[in-house]
Amino acid sequence: MKMLMHASSGGSLLRVTVAVSGLCVPSNLFRRYGFRHYSVSTALPSISTKKNNKYLSQPINAVLDIGGTKITKDDVVKDDPTNNVPDSIFTKLGLQLHNRDKHPIGILKNAIYDYFDKNYTTEFTKFDNLCPIVSLKQNFDDVLVPADHVSRSYNDTYYIDAQTVLRCHTSAHQAELLRMGQTHFLVTGDVYRRDSIDSTHYPVFHQMEGFRVFSPDEWEKSGINSTSYAAEELKKCLEGLARHLFGAVEMRWIDAYFPFTSPSFELEIYFQEKWMEVLGCGVVEQEILKRNGRADNVAWAFGLGLERLAMVLFEIPDIRLFWSNDERFTSQFSKGQLGVKFKQFSKFPPCYKDMSFWINDSFTENNLCEIVRGVAGDLAEEVQLIDNFTNKKGMTSHCYRIVFRSMERSLTDEEINQLQLKVREEVQSKLNVVLR
Ligand SMILES: *[C@@H]1O[C@H](CO)[C@@H](O)[C@H](O)[C@H]1NC(C)=O
Ligand SMILES: *[C@@H]1O[C@H](CO)[C@@H](O)[C@H](O)[C@H]1NC(C)=O
Ligand SMILES: *[C@@H]1O[C@H](CO)[C@@H](O)[C@H](O)[C@H]1NC(C)=O
Ligand SMILES: *[C@@H]1O[C@H](CO)[C@@H](O)[C@H](O)[C@H]1NC(C)=O
Ligand SMILES: *[C@@H]1O[C@H](CO)[C@@H](O)[C@H](O)[C@H]1NC(C)=O
Repeated sequence: MKMLMHASSGGSLLRVTVAVSGLCVPSNLFRRYGFRHYSVSTALPSISTKKNNKYLSQPINAVLDIGGTKITKDDVVKDDPTNNVPDSIFTKLGLQLHNRDKHPIGILKNAIYDYFDKNYTTEFTKFDNLCPIVSLKQNFDDVLVPADHVSRSYNDTYYIDAQTVLRCHTSAHQAELLRMGQTHFLVTGDVYRRDSIDSTHYPVFHQMEGFRVFSPDEWEKSGINSTSYAAEELKKCLEGLARHLFGAVEMRWIDAYFPFTSPSFELEIYFQEKWMEVLGCGVVEQEILKRNGRADNVAWAFGLGLERLAMVLFEIPDIRLFWSNDERFTSQFSKGQLGVKFKQFSKFPPCYKDMSFWINDSFTENNLCEIVRGVAGDLAEEVQLIDNFTNKKGMTSHCYRIVFRSMERSLTDEEINQLQLKVREEVQSKLNVVLR
């Protein structure tokens, strides 16, 4: 099911059901601190695994400074049934890969900025440090995501409390920016989605949102109606962007559906012998403009997943690498150098562990993946369902294969066994399953 715009890290889009209820962190952090800069005030969480063989050397007590207000782990990770944010996710807040000029994500962001600076006389305002903690309303209601929409699920979205989430898309900022009077803007930021584990999916990734408002005099002189005018302008803009990033590629437009645009499209390019989705976009639903003081206007919006494009442009084979502090990775990229091909420094052997259990109705693969990531961090390369059956009594068994591999070193049998033991323990105690 394709739902929210914006290709995610790997292209999977939000799915799934259910909602949650609960309590309160500053539930309107965005409004309070939204447009100020924020930075990590204490040590940056270190993802490096080299020192003292710790799987996860992520400090738990890092404090984020958001516009002068300190956000601690306790504000984000709470011992409360409505909170499903693990420590490992908290440590990603404030890392801002997209604001690092020598990081592939930052290099790609800057290349897109260049395109908009060169091609448009009206400057697009750039926002790249809006707080990722947003209200449920900003994340969903403001962009017309229905109350029963699958993407609101606790299975898919990180809830801080019943009214506050880690944004699952940069569209969460559209309404506020419109109300501020913005008419041309780009929003880049880290977004959060509970997800599966494989080479293209990671629970934190980066998106860029583009938004442009037109006034009646712009389309009236064109002789076509406002919707068609905006759609045409949108396509021209994005075809130009794709050429700017990928060169003279073949492109095609696919009709799509997103709650906040109509009509909606996806742009695909033919690259390295296959069609690849680059972004989702469309003409903004009139209701959004109307609610935010732009009833007489028309607008387009697009959203793109930066990791997915960076993986292709820089030939980065595994999404975990973006988070690596290993110099053999970080030293390969320089400011302004889009598309320098990543050279694999070494490939360490994977280690496979299978695990079978009887599942319960409440079981979800995302919950399993969350446990695996919690225990193994970036050593978890893939979690794959390799067998499933239902017996005569109606009990369903799943067998998962967990692939462990470090991108930086060889793992010992002993440490893998310890990780697997811990995964088994947690799966049994937290997921209502019976190990076989
Ligand atoms: C939970 O999410 C996963 C992946 O997004 C999906 O495949 C699964 O069906 C969902 N399960 C439930 C119960 O919502
Ligand atoms: C605008 O024009 C297009 C193409 O001619 C047409 O399909 C569409 O229905 C029109 N929309 C409105 C709101 O008039
Ligand atoms: C953007 O600029 C390039 C070169 O400067 C030009 O070839 C292209 O047509 C422009 N695209 C748009 C949408 O203006
Ligand atoms: C589901 O969970 C409940 C409560 O933990 C347990 O009693 C039951 O045996 C489980 N069912 C299966 C099929 O494992
Ligand atoms: C389990 O296997 C059946 C067919 O044997 C398949 O239809 C179903 O989708 C599988 N379940 C999952 C969660 O993959």
